Amino acid sequence: MSGESALRVALDERGYDIHIGAGLLARAGDLIAPAIRHRRAVIVTDETVAKLYLRQLAAALDRAAIAHHEIILPPGEGTKDFAHYARLCETVLALGIERATPLIALGGGVIGDLTGFAAATLLRGLDYVQVPTTLLAQVDSAVGGKTAIDTPQGKNLVGAFHQPVLVLADIDTLATLPARELRAGYAEIVKYGLVREPAFFAWLEANGAALLAGDAAARAYAVRTSLGIKAHVVASDERETGERQILNFGHSFGHALEAETGFGATLLHGEAVALGMCLAYDLSARLGHCAVPDADRAKRHIAAAGLPSTLSVLPAERRDPAALLGHMRKDKKVRGGRVTLILPRAIGEVFVTQEVAPETLLDFLAAAGAQ
Ligand code: NAD
Ligand code: GLY
Repeated sequence: MSGESALRVALDERGYDIHIGAGLLARAGDLIAPAIRHRRAVIVTDETVAKLYLRQLAAALDRAAIAHHEIILPPGEGTKDFAHYARLCETVLALGIERATPLIALGGGVIGDLTGFAAATLLRGLDYVQVPTTLLAQVDSAVGGKTAIDTPQGKNLVGAFHQPVLVLADIDTLATLPARELRAGYAEIVKYGLVREPAFFAWLEANGAALLAGDAAARAYAVRTSLGIKAHVVASDERETGERQILNFGHSFGHALEAETGFGATLLHGEAVALGMCLAYDLSARLGHCAVPDADRAKRHIAAAGLPSTLSVLPAERRDPAALLGHMRKDKKVRGGRVTLILPRAIGEVFVTQEVAPETLLDFLAAAGAQ
């Protein structure tokens, strides 16, 4: 089952294909050519990914007679900021591009989000192709058109919805991904099971260890299943006014944890989401919305995957409940001053609520941080 497969995000004129499989980088030129309007492109990547995969992509574009420029940025979340966004835009403009010149994002979610945002804004909108090379980007960030940069005030607070014209998820690239990054991406896979596919969650309980250890068939199946869910949800609610909100499960807590730990190596995005999902299960069980055995089952699998499942992984000074609540109140999803939470009812079922009072959240965070 590690053979190639394709999905479509059905968004009429903004719809696009997602190719998933092994060996796609070598065929990237032929796959990209029909999706773009210009035989000239700008590849944006980071230093780590450039060393591993830029030559392969460049050679594939050469074979398809697509001329290309290369822009190589530093790796890491710190690159998703105003300074790098400005530098990227100015470098692209200095190349003398036209509106039909596409950007190609080769890398993880950082490169994908930043390049997508540059594409959304340069010349009021360029096409872009996502070539995700992390598990997280393959199962989540490369699809759906959410582009953004971080600011000192919080995560992804400046951005735009701008769909790519094509996504190429070459699962061979996962072979070089550090184990910690792989686990962080796995958190987003677990999320799909927990929000709407209990059978997929059960499959992950049985096959997650093999997937993390390198089983190519398991990886391809999990990436395809995750993207099938994501493509369906995005097509039904592109702008996140309804169903798409469920994909933010774990993120209200997660983004606060990322902000509190400085968007760095203490907690990777996927790790913060894993911990955020566990906190959401604990809160939901405490409020009586979810059975304790379901909460325990979800947390057990997240911990077994080597992901953080309790606040005790953080130093005491990073668990301050008032500080965490302060970050949650700056989230994009705050409505009328109330934090929007995605809470579980069971394994595979969540609901959206603004009904949890700030004092309740504060008590909960204090109790969770004291454990
Ligand atoms: P990342 O882009 O920082 O990549 C992680 C690290 O892995 C980097 O150091 C990178 O250089 C390296 N790397 C990438 N591919 C590699 C490979 N194949 N082999 C070896 N090393 C490789 O992080 P990420 O986890 O991919 O993405 C996180 C970002 O994605 C966050 O900013 C998050 O907010 C964003 N995100 C966006 C969405 C969305 O819908 N747009 C969804 C989820 C997450
Ligand atoms: N990562 C959540 C979404 O794309 O909606």
